[in-house]
Amino acid sequence: MKFFVDSADLDQIAYLNDIGFVDGVTTNPSIIAKSGRDFIEVIKEICAMVEGPVSAEVTATEADAMIAEGRKLRKISKNVCVKLPLTLDGLKACKVLSGEGTQTNVTLCFSANQALLAAKAGATFVSPFIGRLDDIGVDGMELIEEIRIIFDNYGYETEILAASIRNGGHAKACALVGADVMTAPPEVIRKMAEHPLTDKGLAAFLKDWEKTGQSIL
Ligand code: E4P
Repeated sequence: MKFFVDSADLDQIAYLNDIGFVDGVTTNPSIIAKSGRDFIEVIKEICAMVEGPVSAEVTATEADAMIAEGRKLRKISKNVCVKLPLTLDGLKACKVLSGEGTQTNVTLCFSANQALLAAKAGATFVSPFIGRLDDIGVDGMELIEEIRIIFDNYGYETEILAASIRNGGHAKACALVGADVMTAPPEVIRKMAEHPLTDKGLAAFLKDWEKTGQSIL
């Protein structure tokens, strides 16, 4: 499963990228607003840092304007992936931009039928939002399972980009059901390395090692 980082925090992205955990980056208008940075500038810097796709979201709501924004955004860097909302206008823009060879990420997907339309529109990625479904009492992971079955039934190449990942449980479930990608905030990815028994075991090993009086270097 590929890991995308859902953030515009350059330091956090760089830290995870250095370990080799960053296959791409996703942003949205809320993440850009939180960064306090200029949209184009911050996308340019992220694109220079990571090799994989960097999602930059359009803010127009009408297809022609989305297409114009997408064409501008893709000029920032060859790894820009134009992010479009899952509306009929967004799907129309997706079809055009994908047809021009631009990477596209259709976002705000909350149903299997919406995902099917994104695949038919030629999206590179479709982003079902797990956490936001869980927030309203719907099992977000069931949606990933449904989309996996539908895409496999017909051989759609659109990748399932599980989004709105809030914890390690979501990450594990995504891997189990076969999401192609998950995008998660940096702190969620970092926490995946943690286990209390790892900390306890390491402390005990180091204590015993100290008793030997030896050093490796
Ligand atoms: C994905 O592309 C979105 O930016 C993101 O995953 C939304 O997550 P949230 O529901 O935690 O805001």
